[in-house]
Amino acid sequence: MTTFGKAIRSLWRLDPGVRFLNHGSFGATPLEVLAEQQRWRDRMEAQPVRFMASEYPAAVRTAARQAADFLGTSSERFAFVENATSGVNAILRSLRFEPGERIVTTSHVYGAVRQALRHVASTTGAEVIEADVPTPVVSPEAVFDAIAGGLNARTKLVVVDHIASPSALIFPVREIAALCAERRIHCLVDGAHAPGQIDFNVDEIDADWYVGNFHKWLCAPKGAGFLVAADRNVPPLHPPVISHFYGQGLTAEFDWIGTRDPSSWLSVPSALNFHEKLGGGDMRRRNHALVLEALRSVARELDAVPSGPDQMFGAMATFALPRLVAPTFENAVRIHDLLLQQHAIEVPLIPFGDRLWMRLSVHAYNDVSDYAGLGVLLKDLLSEIVCT
Ligand SMILES: Cc1ncc(COP(=O)(O)O)c(C=O)c1O
Repeated sequence: MTTFGKAIRSLWRLDPGVRFLNHGSFGATPLEVLAEQQRWRDRMEAQPVRFMASEYPAAVRTAARQAADFLGTSSERFAFVENATSGVNAILRSLRFEPGERIVTTSHVYGAVRQALRHVASTTGAEVIEADVPTPVVSPEAVFDAIAGGLNARTKLVVVDHIASPSALIFPVREIAALCAERRIHCLVDGAHAPGQIDFNVDEIDADWYVGNFHKWLCAPKGAGFLVAADRNVPPLHPPVISHFYGQGLTAEFDWIGTRDPSSWLSVPSALNFHEKLGGGDMRRRNHALVLEALRSVARELDAVPSGPDQMFGAMATFALPRLVAPTFENAVRIHDLLLQQHAIEVPLIPFGDRLWMRLSVHAYNDVSDYAGLGVLLKDLLSEIVCT
């Protein structure tokens, strides 16, 4: 059986003095994957011209095939991008919007994606609707209903998270993609948090586009995002930066966007291998069970309200702090900094809606001791804050 927690923490470079409960924001890359990345860099720098001209084109497609296989799709429809933000931008900028056409997303949308949508709206006259999904969310149907309620005859695109950033909730993307197909509306799924966190298959979701990251839950080096485009009649995609292979198809255009360090993309197979060595699906289920245990142990001490039902969480879980803590950015920073400076705990605090939320992450290197006493500690810290 695979060992988890402290016993394998030295497989990462993570500071052993910090309880690292925020894998979700930027992931963390294990030493063996970083070593693979360095091997690619060494190979590139030994003969840059030969590498870029002769070795890279085949190497990137080999990596793409393995990545696409893991995601349950085909490599002809798969392209690496820098990150999920870049993938979302590529899709939004490849679509043409008429004034008054509608883009529907939810109130849980990630901040950077919200800004990209604002930009499209301001340059085209399209209208962005954020369907309100009140939190705590009672069920996946509540998300579906909120989105369905935002659609009208002029809706051109739905942008929906697979796992929402502030609430950590898994959204029913397959059902939402089916609804969009029925209504002839394009559907973009933002799966920044999904690969390596939960079980899924991109082709079964069957959205027009699926965007995600390998550098979060799959522990690839930073800069390893991807997009998958359906092969039905969707508008052709172009990268946000147009380069040599303009108009020559998805893989040609996205594989070469100018001179850059491709080592994070080429190291994705190593990250996939590492993920499987940790147990793959078994590890994902173990992380899910542990995050629920952590959530319950905090809730026992604190009047903490989870953002949704257990089955909507993967390996992250979000809960609201008691109402007496105002949901301000200042409070979020203050509590975050106190936890880090006084208790060496790295965990995100998120002002969202009318509450301040804490988001717990569990990856293979975490164990139950990382969350022990967190509820009591938070209770003491919050009463100090409220009193001062
Ligand atoms: C839902 C969602 N979309 C997009 C992103 C952006 O990811 P990246 O910074 O890798 O572009 C994040 C990051 O946390 C996210 O949670």
